[in-house]
Amino acid sequence: MTQSVNKLVSVDKPLLATLNGVQQKRPPIWIMRQAGRYLPEYREVRARSKNFIDFCYSPDLATEVTLQPIRRFGFDAAILFSDILVVPDALGQGVSFVENEGPRLPPLLVENNLSELKGAIDLDRLAPVFETIGRVKEALPKETTFLGFCGAPWTVASYMIAGKSTPELAPIRLVAYRNPEYLARLIDLLVESSIAYLCRQVEAGVDALQIFESFAGALTADGIEQWSIGPIRRIIEGVRKRHPQAKFIVFGRGSGANHVQYAAKTGADAVAIDWGTDPHWAASTLQPLKPVQGNLDPLAVVAGGDQLDRRVDGIIEAFSKGLHIFNLGHGIVPETPVAHVERLVKLVRS
Ligand code: CP3
Repeated sequence: MTQSVNKLVSVDKPLLATLNGVQQKRPPIWIMRQAGRYLPEYREVRARSKNFIDFCYSPDLATEVTLQPIRRFGFDAAILFSDILVVPDALGQGVSFVENEGPRLPPLLVENNLSELKGAIDLDRLAPVFETIGRVKEALPKETTFLGFCGAPWTVASYMIAGKSTPELAPIRLVAYRNPEYLARLIDLLVESSIAYLCRQVEAGVDALQIFESFAGALTADGIEQWSIGPIRRIIEGVRKRHPQAKFIVFGRGSGANHVQYAAKTGADAVAIDWGTDPHWAASTLQPLKPVQGNLDPLAVVAGGDQLDRRVDGIIEAFSKGLHIFNLGHGIVPETPVAHVERLVKLVRS
């Protein structure tokens, strides 16, 4: 990082400072899915809205649950409460969530040639999300970095094509072999939509952005550039045309040695790693390239006890010589005891 960039950083936000290359005394910490069902106060607010997508579009409720984990744990970042699937929703696909099952969308059909979708994202549909950002911004402590986000095109397209969660992504992988031109058009539409959506998030007040490639592990070695790295790079470049200072964290979950490509080829400012990645490998291979975010196993926080203490210490130690943002290696799970999260925060901050 150059000195001139560093001067523009507001030094009172430790996580943003880390993204700008300024090492902190202790690593900043936040947790993926930190606003969620493990918190009793989240479950209380969640119960007021039957439909999850309506919940995401209710600024009152979304603002409240975004702030809950900040009040309780004082994390260094707040992440906007929304979902990656609001993008297909704003493209006209229509998204719903089935209790205890997950998302449902009417699957796209290759023969329809994307005629089910609008030609461009309808940002008016997402006005409540931008309203939420403005309200959260007002209420956050000045030291808290505010993160916006979107899903990477491959991950979002996997839901659009299958219409639901598919653990091994068979539907989209088959489309990539049989109809690559179709998939390329869908990915292009998602790149353009994500640029427009993330630019508006920045304009509404977020400090940095995370791109979730949750299914990086379902890409072949020769598909990763075309379907993941390239589209993410185009999103980052597209946002920076309008907002040159925009900061990005990219999470290529399950990408193994390809985490190097997310760090080196996307233009991201930091690379997030999953819990299956060896912290010592990441410290020697990724940290020289970019700050690393991660990577405690969410189930270690469910287990608690000595396991938790040892693993937190091990991760902090492994990354202590470079830039590090403490996080889990995937989202916190609903079964997690709140007391174990308190312990985790205490360990990272001691
Ligand atoms: O706290 C935060 O992290 C911010 C909000 C957030 C949610 N989803 C809220 C949510 C974020 C950043 C996401 C991202 C997201 N959504 C991803 C990428 C990250 C990852 O987990 O890999 C993906 C793949 C989705 C799609 C999605 N949303 C699924 C598959 C599900 C159902 C499974 C589940 O966990 O229930 C959701 C629902 C969802 N999104 C919930 C929350 C808190 C749970 C629903 C509820 O509270 O009723």
